Amino acid sequence: MVLRKPATVRRRQGLDSTGMTGSRKLYVKSFGCQMNVYDSQRMADTLAPEGYVETGSADDADLIILNTCHIREKAAEKVYSELGRMRRLKEAAKAEGRDVRIAVAGCVAQAEGEEIIRRAPAVDLVVGSQNYHRLPDLLARAARDGKAVDTEFPLDDKFDHLVAPSAAATRARGVAAFVTVQEGCDKFCTFCVVPYTRGAEISRPVQKIVDEVARLVDAGVREITLIGQNVNAYHGEAPLGRIWSLGTLLRHLADIPGIVRLRYSTSHPRDVDETLIEAHRDLAALMPFVHLPVQSGSDRILAVMNRKHTADDYRRVIDRFREARQDIAFSSDFIVGFPGESEEEFAATLALVMQIGYAGAYSFKYSPRPGTPAADMRETVSAAEMDERLVRLQELIDSQQSAFNKAMIGNTVDVLFERAARNPGQIVGRTAYLQPAHVFASPDIIGQVLPVTIASLERYSLLGELAGAATRSVASTHSTMTRSSQETNPSQEIGA
Ligand code: 5AD
Ligand code: SF4
Repeated sequence: MVLRKPATVRRRQGLDSTGMTGSRKLYVKSFGCQMNVYDSQRMADTLAPEGYVETGSADDADLIILNTCHIREKAAEKVYSELGRMRRLKEAAKAEGRDVRIAVAGCVAQAEGEEIIRRAPAVDLVVGSQNYHRLPDLLARAARDGKAVDTEFPLDDKFDHLVAPSAAATRARGVAAFVTVQEGCDKFCTFCVVPYTRGAEISRPVQKIVDEVARLVDAGVREITLIGQNVNAYHGEAPLGRIWSLGTLLRHLADIPGIVRLRYSTSHPRDVDETLIEAHRDLAALMPFVHLPVQSGSDRILAVMNRKHTADDYRRVIDRFREARQDIAFSSDFIVGFPGESEEEFAATLALVMQIGYAGAYSFKYSPRPGTPAADMRETVSAAEMDERLVRLQELIDSQQSAFNKAMIGNTVDVLFERAARNPGQIVGRTAYLQPAHVFASPDIIGQVLPVTIASLERYSLLGELAGAATRSVASTHSTMTRSSQETNPSQEIGA
């Protein structure tokens, strides 16, 4: 039996969980959604006390973690091609006498478990999405036994054990941060792996979220995006034995001094309740941009997808948001070529897009996922038809997105400045609608919301000038804040 010193003693002595001294380099690569970006950061935070320092390059890493996505076949296969590259790196390091460990985390890890090591023997460690807090122990186990696999859904809550980021790590990640408030999904859309890879829906208690948000804000974060696979199903334990909805949680967070922007993603149309609509009506900090996936405009397809809403239900939800906040805009997710989708049913999707008018949207070709009910559906749509439908849908969405972006020209809009842009002298931030906006200005403006008069549009980026004095500006305590090399895209898809 191997006796290990407790983690606190190891930390005091500068030892890691394998009993070795010195700092080691950690490279984490995130695939897929915002939940994975958040999880990757928490894995890095949890390994920091073990002596791991993050690096932006796999070449000099001692530990490589691929945080994977299983939502569509393409996403899952990407991981295996990346593992091929990592195996070559590992072999090259070995030839120089350096040991590199490779870990696979996330939804592919959860779905495929040991099978990953059979397919890619260079992998040392497989860790499911609920077990990241056990990483130090799993690394020790892999060092001792050669391999370690942990894809159980544990009874203890990983959030209670994951290490919080240091103020320095938070600052390095920039002024916009994600906070997971909800995980898993009970909706069981027939095409979707999330209920299997992320498990049953759980909500984090209010106080834990408030503490995490307060800590981020103290370290200079100004925009918080609450994330969850079905975020507006949130129903967290609150003070006095109450249960709070997402709308109530947002209302409370908006009162934390220093927060200037709040967002949330991804929502399910069925779970939009009055508290969320009222939050949009009342809270200036809550950005008027909602990602609300609909998937299809056909009621028959929506029923076979088990979406639990019709196209009209969706239209009514959109109308309620619009009544509450006139400047609100929407994005969505669509699947084309779901089993049995006819041309008329696809046309109903195009008609819905025309009626709603989106600021942007993601569209995907249906991809059968093992273990989901839709994977057993016999009717199929030919690859050629799927391609053609995807092009038609994307052309329509692109035209709506460019019209939306063009309409900004000549207007003065609030921008939260995030970091120095690639172009020397330029600082880039985001509008309320997540459009990147560039100005020539001093880096002192990073962390502030300032009005910008938009002069032009370059592809998806707005270019403008600071408009006079600051409105709603917040003095940044950390004006040299930059985004980490792992650029995050807050509008990336998650679930719902
Ligand atoms: N095939 C294609 N797209 C899918 N999505 C989820 N599962 C599948 C699948 N099997 C899309 C949905 C969801 C987004 C995150 O990914 O549009 O909203
Ligand atoms: Fe849940 Fe969204 Fe997946 Fe449906 S598509 S099962 S709502 S995560």
